[in-house]
Amino acid sequence: MITALVPGSFDPPTNGHIDVVSRCVAIFDRVVVGVVTNPSKAPLFSIEERKAMLEECCPWESVEVAGFDGLLVDFAREIGANLVVKGLRAMTDFDYELQLAQMNRQLSGIVTMFVATKPEYGYLSSSLVKEVAGFGGSVEELVPAVVSKALQERFRS
Ligand code: PNS
Repeated sequence: MITALVPGSFDPPTNGHIDVVSRCVAIFDRVVVGVVTNPSKAPLFSIEERKAMLEECCPWESVEVAGFDGLLVDFAREIGANLVVKGLRAMTDFDYELQLAQMNRQLSGIVTMFVATKPEYGYLSSSLVKEVAGFGGSVEELVPAVVSKALQERFRS
């Protein structure tokens, strides 16, 4: 039984994130989407909102969505993850992601694997999605419908 941990802020989840989770579903027995409770920047959506959106967007039986606090490696150990999986959009992601992967390896020996995102999602990020939606732009092609609706509601209020 191989468990993959797909960690992130998911503030909010984008089509790129869901694509990475779907690739993991096709490969691993169990996929835990780990949502960091307190991301480095103040989140637009609460941990409960981000988890609920992910649960709706990841309808696969082998997927669990869970929040975590503290070190990723501690959470990975707690859930019995065999590896961490991250999406790579472009070379600009690579330096930082490699640094995280090597630190996590140093801390616990855990393996990180990278999934190349779909080329059409290569420019996509949660930050850009929030900026576009905040100025009233359409993000319907970039995020699942439930997320697009939540963004509209959040920025209307
Ligand atoms: O979606 P993000 O913001 O790129 O995800 C980053 C995340 C949550 C994977 C990273 O910040 C993380 O692992 N945070 C947990 C704290 C931790 O373990 N820090 C040391 C990383 S080497």
